[in-house]
Amino acid sequence: MSYDPRQILTQAGQDLAVEEVPLRQIADQFGTPCYVYSAQALRAQYHQLAAALNPLKSRIHYSVKANSNLGILSLFKELGAGFDIVSGGELSRVLAIGGNPRDVIFSGVGKSVAEIDLALKVGVGCFNVESRSELERIQQRAELAQKVAPISVRVNPDIDANTHPYISTGLKDNKFGVDAETALTLYSMAAKTNALSIEGIDCHIGSQIARTEPLLEALNSILNLVDTLSSSGIELQHVNLGGGFGVRYQDEHALDLNAYGAQLHELLGPRQLPLRVEPGRSLTANAGLLLTQVEYLKPGQDDATGFVIVDAAMNDLIRPSLYDAWHDIVVVDGFSADDPVQQLDVVGPICESGDFLAKGRSLQVSEDSLLAVLSAGAYGMCLASNYNSRGRAAEVLVDGANVQCIRRRETVQDQLRLELPEGR
Ligand code: LLP
Repeated sequence: MSYDPRQILTQAGQDLAVEEVPLRQIADQFGTPCYVYSAQALRAQYHQLAAALNPLKSRIHYSVKANSNLGILSLFKELGAGFDIVSGGELSRVLAIGGNPRDVIFSGVGKSVAEIDLALKVGVGCFNVESRSELERIQQRAELAQKVAPISVRVNPDIDANTHPYISTGLKDNKFGVDAETALTLYSMAAKTNALSIEGIDCHIGSQIARTEPLLEALNSILNLVDTLSSSGIELQHVNLGGGFGVRYQDEHALDLNAYGAQLHELLGPRQLPLRVEPGRSLTANAGLLLTQVEYLKPGQDDATGFVIVDAAMNDLIRPSLYDAWHDIVVVDGFSADDPVQQLDVVGPICESGDFLAKGRSLQVSEDSLLAVLSAGAYGMCLASNYNSRGRAAEVLVDGANVQCIRRRETVQDQLRLELPEGR
């Protein structure tokens, strides 16, 4: 694969986002491993989705879990996004960038009392309720705080999103949402109390969904409920379709957003219901990469595949180990035409065989090479850990010729501080 060092990000086989700063310069300045994001690519993804939903009354609530760096959240806030959160921590991040709590949707099956209280105090726009017990808890906490909690019920439509089982959420054996009948019960409970105000209805059937059919099927069953509720006098203010729009990592098809927008329009028919979506991956995945330096080349035993051992590991990017996810790997520099093209596993320094970033790739690489692991802008850094007491990577945002460190590399002191006795 030919590589222009100014192209800091690529979307396999699609348009390349070109920023002005060479990756080698970023590696020299900030060290490796290092996540690099393109502001231009993030904006382009946002505008593409906004344009596809344009004919509809709609609002994009960026799903914070996909990449929760404050620099990324600020960028989406500037673009006019609201936010989808699943914890008090994510709410605090939105507040830290000056986000308006009214633009926040609070999802998740396990909202604690402390999280509900914080959300009520700051006044989030909507709680997406996932069970009867949760509805009762939100009502009690709202009564205690003398507030009115805006709610939406998350419906689990029992639809197969045809994605990895770990990230499928809309099947009846998944822990998320409630069935249609329970949803109707929850709405009638909510209608009877002044502590809750009924705002909308929502669903999210999974992530990395490649085809529009399951998403539309989900909307269809939600619309049936909207109509049933309407006939019993409960008028909803919005329909939230969740996120899950699939992207291209290798040779799969990204979800056709324009087709999706047009089909939504058709399905909604004369209903003037405002739509909400909660995209995470589709906005950030292909706007980020992970830079990593080769440490060693190690031949395989006998005729087994050899290894390129790099300084990034499963603690930095766990998607290949956890979901068997495929990320393109590009050799940025540090090789010559004389270096042979080899079949290699790209592995990190962590002490388990599950620590790999890629398997069996054809690479022309040397021990001086810098590599880029592509499509790493979503569920990369936010899933990073300190396993093997490794500090988490730095994060850098590039905007034209402007390079900004949006999270410094974690030091050993950062890790020890929480465990040493006070004052040491
Ligand atoms: N809304 C809800 C309620 C969600 O649970 C999720 C993702 C989203 C929105 C955003 O979905 P997206 O547009 O990003 O597909 N760690 C996995 C993905 C987990 C997704 C969890 N929920 C991965 O690396 O593939």
